[in-house]
Amino acid sequence: MPKLEKRSWAEPFKIKVVEPLHMTTRPYREHALLEAGYNTFLLRSRDVYIDLLTDSGTNAMSDNQWAGLMMGDEAYAGSENFYHLEEKVREYYGYRYLVPTHQGRGAEHLLSRILIKPGDFVPGNMYFTTTRLHQELAGGTFVDVIVDEAHDPESLHPFKGNIDLHKLESLIERVGADRISYVSAAATVNMAGGQPIAMQNLRELRALTKKHHIRVVLDATRAVENAWFIRQREPGFASHSVAQILHEMCSYTDACTMSGKKDLLVNIGGFLALNDEDIFEEARNLVVVYEGLHTYGGLAGRDLEAMARGIDEAVQEDHIRARVGQVEYVGQRLLSIGIPIVQPIGGHAVFLDARRFLPHIPQIEFPAQTLAAELYLESGIRTMERGIVSAGRDPETGEHHVPKLELVRLTFPRRVYTQAHCDVVTEAVEAVYDRRTQVRGLRMTYEPKYLRFFQTRFERL
Ligand code: F0G
Repeated sequence: MPKLEKRSWAEPFKIKVVEPLHMTTRPYREHALLEAGYNTFLLRSRDVYIDLLTDSGTNAMSDNQWAGLMMGDEAYAGSENFYHLEEKVREYYGYRYLVPTHQGRGAEHLLSRILIKPGDFVPGNMYFTTTRLHQELAGGTFVDVIVDEAHDPESLHPFKGNIDLHKLESLIERVGADRISYVSAAATVNMAGGQPIAMQNLRELRALTKKHHIRVVLDATRAVENAWFIRQREPGFASHSVAQILHEMCSYTDACTMSGKKDLLVNIGGFLALNDEDIFEEARNLVVVYEGLHTYGGLAGRDLEAMARGIDEAVQEDHIRARVGQVEYVGQRLLSIGIPIVQPIGGHAVFLDARRFLPHIPQIEFPAQTLAAELYLESGIRTMERGIVSAGRDPETGEHHVPKLELVRLTFPRRVYTQAHCDVVTEAVEAVYDRRTQVRGLRMTYEPKYLRFFQTRFERL
């Protein structure tokens, strides 16, 4: 009898509740896309078959998390669930103080208001859209200090999220440490393609910033995924647990902003966590103005509970292996049929390289936006542009920021789709690739002022 070649692995859960998917026809999708102005953010979710728009708030909660919802203590002040969350943040992330917020950008808003003075600089390992906007609204100027490799989709550097310490040092020399609000260090770096930062880099960053009395703020949104990459790729960490690595990463920073909607396996929630008592006092006061009382921060008690339980689940090895493994599976299949993607494959998403996919479309005709629209047309799969549209305009000159990376993100919600869905996705990408030379670019017909990628409308050229 012929033998199977290898033993497979499978998702480390079984399915208890299902949500039916809707298939649509191509003429239907043509119409839906036109109505949405060729922007996948403006599609109705009922018109989407497989939704890879984002991994944010789209996770499937466990039975344990759902059970936790029933334990919501909906007191206005001093909810039990706040204290549970505080205990888990201290245990796994290690920061002393916790300020809950409705989601990540709520924490970014508070922190930016407190730490940034007009005229300040905020260096970071590539920007994230909401993070940079809050820095700018507070009067700061973001400065990209990520390693050059991060801007090269073909570089195989294992830690493309690293900060280039020479770039940071020359900024410090140029403007002076006093005018640097803090260093914004993201793990993993979303806009670079879900690329991790190395522990060694965090250690060196800590040493340099300590010398100049500059704070380091971690964007911990996908820090668990980063910890997994450190374990896989960085010498000396193979026998560490993901939880230990996470804790050590945080120990080189002074605070973190967190979107619980990613790593923490919930649909809503976030927090600011920090060690500095003075800043905590101020944040605890400001949160009351913008989010809600300091023990709920815009969330229901049940949301706090689901997030507290999610922290425990996020660092489980079988979970994180399967989570990153699913993304790797899709990325490897696409590579095997010659589709241009960002390498190494990221933690939360596979990023198609629209420049190489649609080389005949100039960046000003939005190749990544175009490709996201084509994928929807082909198969009802929803993805997201991460290129010139997401990069927005320079607030000073009004010109487009022109990023080197022009990408389409296929983002995988955690615990939601199966390997069969993944296969359907790969086949859809291949079908668009086969007819790529016939694809035409787009022109903008409406552009909002802030975070334009969410609401800009386009028409076909
Ligand atoms: N930081 C990172 C690295 C993020 O990816 C996000 C959100 C935020 C902060 C803001 O958090 O959405 O809870 O306010 N990223 C989503 C995405 C929107 O699709 O990548 P939020």
